[in-house]
Amino acid sequence: MNIIKRIDRIISEQTNYSRKEIKKLISKGLIYVNDQQVKKPECKFEENDIVLKIEGKEIDIKDHIYLILNKPKGFVSTTDDVKENSVLNLVPLKYKKRNLFPAGRLDKDTTGLMIITDDGGFAHNILAPNKHVKKIYEVKIDIPVSSIMKEEFAKGVILNDGVCKSAELNIKEKYRAEVILTEGRYHQIKRMFACFKAKVIELNRIGIGDLYLPKDLKIGDVREVTKNELLKIQEK
Ligand code: URA
Repeated sequence: MNIIKRIDRIISEQTNYSRKEIKKLISKGLIYVNDQQVKKPECKFEENDIVLKIEGKEIDIKDHIYLILNKPKGFVSTTDDVKENSVLNLVPLKYKKRNLFPAGRLDKDTTGLMIITDDGGFAHNILAPNKHVKKIYEVKIDIPVSSIMKEEFAKGVILNDGVCKSAELNIKEKYRAEVILTEGRYHQIKRMFACFKAKVIELNRIGIGDLYLPKDLKIGDVREVTKNELLKIQEK
């Protein structure tokens, strides 16, 4: 559904210009929509049907924002950006006006792939267990990874909040494994290994759906997800 909105509202929602600044720019004739000079802030447009130029620069109009972050250790998956160590404080200021939140939580000491968005429907689709979207983790534990762990993960480990869905455990090295979940309970991987008296030493999420952490995305880096990447996240 395309929503008709005042141009000053569209611009203030999608950029860091204030309504006052927008009014000034309009009065100076510096805002164009679809190559037509905007005369008044109250002019209405379909949000998704405009090419916006402000001071000669083309501005992208987007319904939703999807960011990919390579989460460093020490950051929390909160939506409270007042907290200094919130992952939201790694997001560039230009997205500040969006109601962004992490689509799925990672523990403070977990690193890796995180999607930050303002699209609740999208987040639901990748998080709800009945959607079966894979979350792929590299794990290091303090005791050797065993084939018993592999078998029990596949059967469904019993935690105090119920039986986990079948999970894949691929043994990589003596102490290292890849774990693939299709649900996301609180501290799930740590609690699953704790059932075998194993402690998780390192946890790094490397994939969601068919999207893997891009090699060039350094720890702490954030960028917009490409269309192709967005499709990969949702693929099963
Ligand atoms: N499982 C955990 O225990 N922690 C995470 O951050 C993600 C999955």
